[in-house]
Amino acid sequence: MKELLLRRARLASPSGNEDDPWRRVILRATTGKADLEIAGVGAYEIFRPTPTPAAPLAGKIAIVTGAAGAIGAGICRGLLETGCHVAATDVSPDNLCSLVEDLRGVGPTIGVPLDVTDPQSVADGFAQVIKTWGGVDIVVVNAGIAIGASLMETSLEAFRKLEKVNVDGALLTLTEAGRILREQNTGGDIIVISTKNFFAPGAGFGAYCATKSACHQLARIASLEFAPFGVRVNMVAPDAVFSDGSRRSGLWAEVGPARMKSRGLDEKGLEEYYRNRNLLKTRVTAKHVANAVLFFATRQTPTTGATIPVDGGLPDSTPR
Ligand SMILES: NC(=O)c1ccc[n+]([C@@H]2O[C@H](COP(=O)([O-])OP(=O)(O)OC[C@H]3O[C@@H](n4cnc5c(N)ncnc54)[C@H](O)[C@@H]3O)[C@@H](O)[C@H]2O)c1
Repeated sequence: MKELLLRRARLASPSGNEDDPWRRVILRATTGKADLEIAGVGAYEIFRPTPTPAAPLAGKIAIVTGAAGAIGAGICRGLLETGCHVAATDVSPDNLCSLVEDLRGVGPTIGVPLDVTDPQSVADGFAQVIKTWGGVDIVVVNAGIAIGASLMETSLEAFRKLEKVNVDGALLTLTEAGRILREQNTGGDIIVISTKNFFAPGAGFGAYCATKSACHQLARIASLEFAPFGVRVNMVAPDAVFSDGSRRSGLWAEVGPARMKSRGLDEKGLEEYYRNRNLLKTRVTAKHVANAVLFFATRQTPTTGATIPVDGGLPDSTPR
């Protein structure tokens, strides 16, 4: 009997049981080395990475968009530490290279250039991951941008720029993920990084709040439409994450100065302000956001269409 270390397999006739989708005839398998064509499983003993308490996502393949930013980097690290293979994707090639370098040694990572606003780029990015590792299990919709401006100061051009990334980008990533996961028939998890602003919008932040709310609503619709093929879609709603280690949030680099000016605070003062405004008086970190992503990705509860607030407790912005 041949031994085969199988990373992924495409099934001729999936069993329908998401815990055991490997029972039926395997048509195409991707191993560590190359794609193989296999007539049936009988001649092979198949080894799969086995999840353990320390690595509950062993062997799973995750794609993270906007990975080279503060929150994306934290999410990639969290997924790697639980055993995932991680495809870190971003529109910024330089930041992506530095992220892949930072994650060297944490776990199997590839950097994939992917612009969420461009359908071809999204399709090519997913295709590259599938070619490399044979499939996808977890997709984190994280790319997002912001501006700080009152409605009357917001130009249509600026609004459309945010729409393109936060709404079109979310739609394109969700639909590509949905199509691929449906075709694989393996189930899967999509986690959308929303914001506390969905529940509690802020003055001077209209374009961001409106476009992220559209993204959140798309995710809720996806949870309705993807459930029939075993795909869960959940949201994480953080507040005020300024960095992940030395990686500063680009979003805060954009909106921070106006926020500091309006509150008469310096950078440190601004971070303190956000820490002190929540019930738990806690500084929210990218690792906290990653932990919420992992809660969903490890399927600890039968939940879809739900949001975990990661905000230290903000009574007006939590779906309690
Ligand atoms: N930082 C916060 O306080 C906070 C709070 C709530 C929600 N969020 C959400 O978390 C996500 C990440 O925020 P962050 O603070 O890490 O921001 P960030 O700016 O540090 O990271 C965002 C990343 O998205 C990438 N990106 C931008 N346009 C893209 C495109 N067209 N295609 C692909 N990638 C693109 C950027 O290059 C960047 O690496 C965003 O969706 C944001 O709305 C952030």
